[in-house]
Amino acid sequence: MAYGRWTDHLPYAMSHQPSAMMRIRVFDTPLGLARACARDIARALSARPGLVLGLPTGRTPIPLYRALARLHEAGRVDFSRATTFNLDEFLGLAAGDPRSYRAFMQRHLFNHVNLSPRRIHFLNGTARDVDKECRAYERAIDRAGGIDLQILGLGLNGHIGFNEPARALIARTHRTRLKPGTRRANAALFGHRLGAVPREAISMGMATILHARRVVLLATGVTKARRVERMIRGPVTPRLPASFLQLHRNVDVWIDRPAASNLELSYPTFSSSFSRASTSSPIASRTKSWARRRRNSDWG
Ligand code: GLP
Repeated sequence: MAYGRWTDHLPYAMSHQPSAMMRIRVFDTPLGLARACARDIARALSARPGLVLGLPTGRTPIPLYRALARLHEAGRVDFSRATTFNLDEFLGLAAGDPRSYRAFMQRHLFNHVNLSPRRIHFLNGTARDVDKECRAYERAIDRAGGIDLQILGLGLNGHIGFNEPARALIARTHRTRLKPGTRRANAALFGHRLGAVPREAISMGMATILHARRVVLLATGVTKARRVERMIRGPVTPRLPASFLQLHRNVDVWIDRPAASNLELSYPTFSSSFSRASTSSPIASRTKSWARRRRNSDWG
């Protein structure tokens, strides 16, 4: 029956069953998750040295970048032919501004691996013509052959990149207004001075992200638990931009136990259907995760 066939393509939104397409993996600790993701990227790079990587900022990927730096130091990952595109940048901040995402990436990853500077791509927050900058970014991604592996974090309100919840999402790289909660979440980069956090940013669009060949979304900590659940199980809605990942054919969702806690609580049978990195106490790992969050509370 035609209707039945159609639902086959959107199994999740229709049935609220675990997505046939999202591969979910739960780790005991953010560190275990970071190391596994770093090894995964290293494997992808050795299979395809010219890999095109999409990269996020945020507290979540800091341990990943540290793990990649360590692997590089140990001679186990080579970025010399890789290309990177970061997801977003604050409007009005120059690359050299220590509060910019560009500077964040420099501190946490670029200074520690052998990426060629000419293959690092970033949106220019001080571009005079922002629309032109956005179009040029899309063209650069196209010229690089598209993004092979897009790593994502998850905003507290379900945003990815700076695609904020809205009535409608913008498909391509665009200028965007930040929600108050998103500005608060970023205030640590600005010495915790909310007033100093830019009100606007430039971000890859939802279609730019969905066109990546593979997506790995990382989320850690109990504060992400509700959004993780809705991202995976809820309807596909621009009110929760990350839910659009349900439409992608090749998505990994890698989360720690606290971030998975709503899945387990509201859907007791669900835990058997996803792979676990290991099985130690959720309480212990939650405590560890909170301690880590506190250590990472500064983006510095
Ligand atoms: C910022 C970034 C997002 C990131 C989010 C989550 O808003 N623009 O790309 O995913 O923060 O940050 P965190 O990992 O600190 O929770």
